[in-house]
Amino acid sequence: MSFSQRILGWYATHKRALPWRETKNPYIIWLSEIILQQTRIEQGTPYFHRFLESYPNVTKFAEAEESEILRLWQGLGYYSRARNMHKASKQVVNLHSGEFPTTYTDLLRLPGVGEYTAAAISSFSSNHPHAVLDGNVFRVLSRYFGIDEPINSTQGKKIFTQLADEMLDRDHPSEYNQAIMDFGSLQCKPKNPRCEECVLRLDCRAYGDGLVEKLPRKIKAKKSKDRYFHYFVLEAGGEVLMSQRSEGDVWANLYEFPMLETAKEINVAELVQLPEYRELFGENEPKMIQGQVKHILSHQNIYAKFYKIDVDNSELVKKRNWNYCLLENLDKLAKHKLISSFVEHYF
Ligand code: ADE
Repeated sequence: MSFSQRILGWYATHKRALPWRETKNPYIIWLSEIILQQTRIEQGTPYFHRFLESYPNVTKFAEAEESEILRLWQGLGYYSRARNMHKASKQVVNLHSGEFPTTYTDLLRLPGVGEYTAAAISSFSSNHPHAVLDGNVFRVLSRYFGIDEPINSTQGKKIFTQLADEMLDRDHPSEYNQAIMDFGSLQCKPKNPRCEECVLRLDCRAYGDGLVEKLPRKIKAKKSKDRYFHYFVLEAGGEVLMSQRSEGDVWANLYEFPMLETAKEINVAELVQLPEYRELFGENEPKMIQGQVKHILSHQNIYAKFYKIDVDNSELVKKRNWNYCLLENLDKLAKHKLISSFVEHYF
């Protein structure tokens, strides 16, 4: 039996019943695939249902306010995914008359849709012969064929793309693509793979050579940058001051408390000495209400502290383009995780 026949044979008895597998509708598949990028199935599934319920088709999605989409997205992280989805939905309405595309090339033109997602949507919805290449597929192929070229090098990407394409079962692209991904996540797992009960064991190069735990190889990413955020909670008369983040940095357009950033860790005494602090709050003493919280993003570590300041800031509000928000409305603002977690336990 060939590699793909074995994978398909395994899938016939191990297939997971997932809600987005019950449809050929490219819009619904797109929704699930974007949500599942960098998100575990257990975490993403409730979001998938909520999005589909709120926006049953791409036209409804395109008509939504971006702020509403961001609020539904809250907690998933990587918010550019949600913003790109909104742009993509508008593109589908404007350039494809609301008919979600299914060809690989049309799909690739949509914001937020890369090679993996275009292959997934075109094969799952329409059986187009495009091989998916995600972390699971890289792992299965690198182990089975014993390839130690790093999967994130230019050369590695080329080798694995070609190999994935060669292995694709052209008679069953949809089934095969889902099968190899499930095989990677359930059987050929990153840690503790189930080699003893694997249908590929006898031909698996890594298994034969005792290299399963060493593959796939990856070039180490650059060191993450450390950033220190100091958030100020200014609450008065049932309202709290909120600020919207700007474009071009993490959490673009999302809401948070007014803040200052420093390049190093500092204590309260150092904080009040900062000219930026003095300019905002003068002699007012901040009271720490939440010690350091670490929030890890893909290329940066964010260390945040929260302070309460008692000060009437009507002048500041005008100057800074901050806004008072009623505490009962705080829930409606699209906030990033660091802020929503804080809000949840503080208010
Ligand atoms: N992860 C990303 N896409 C997926 C899919 N279609 N099924 C299961 N896990 C996934």
